[in-house]
Amino acid sequence: MRIYREKDYEAMSRRAAQIIAAEIVHNPACLLGLATGSTPEGAYRYLVDWYKQGLLSFKNVRSVNLDEYVGLAPDHDQSYRYFMQSNLFGHVDINPANTRVPDGLTLDAKAFCDEYDAFIRAQGYVDLQLLGIGRNGHIGFNEPGGFFVKETHVVDLTESTIDANARFFASRDDVPKQAISMGMGAIMGAKKVLLCASGEEKADAICGSVLGSISPSCPASILQLHPDVIVVVDEAAFSKLAAAGFQA
Ligand code: PGA
Repeated sequence: MRIYREKDYEAMSRRAAQIIAAEIVHNPACLLGLATGSTPEGAYRYLVDWYKQGLLSFKNVRSVNLDEYVGLAPDHDQSYRYFMQSNLFGHVDINPANTRVPDGLTLDAKAFCDEYDAFIRAQGYVDLQLLGIGRNGHIGFNEPGGFFVKETHVVDLTESTIDANARFFASRDDVPKQAISMGMGAIMGAKKVLLCASGEEKADAICGSVLGSISPSCPASILQLHPDVIVVVDEAAFSKLAAAGFQA
């Protein structure tokens, strides 16, 4: 694990964007595993900016997203497809046909999830997987539990995740209770993983993931078993690692 300790959200975002841009330059037809949420927004802003300056092209880039809420249509303003369109896809030259976000309206979730995994496997897994982290240590929507789930699957969101995401909805009751999430098989199959976190509320999850025991009670701890993980955090998210004497 390589850890980049950055001053603040802006610096974390810039560093993450540099790592993603380097992947695209190195491999213009790369398969990116993409994430949604507040964490990657800044990195996407940098990527859009560099695209607009002519420094980067997404022409041949392909992407698969980590997750989507069950029950939200692609044009719902809180769906993750909508997030990707408004934060990245709609502003760069990526071919829409080359972007995949789980279908929150699928009528056959099992078949959909199987096909999603089959596609990722057929591509030889993603080249670079971008991840945020939940306050409870979740990655994608792989919530803490008794075991790691390998396949893409439908998840019941935890109360903690519903609370954390309520800020985006008119009321807490409007937050979907389920999501489709890539499983640990697809995440751990990625050639490279980029885990980002900002803010003090992520400090315990980051500390547990990097220094804690590998356990499904902190899903991101599984990344300790991955051979190529880059963690980019700001000072606040690093603070518990710092308090534990961890150097970066
Ligand atoms: P956030 O969510 O980036 O909005 O904090 C991250 C996550 O829950 O995985």
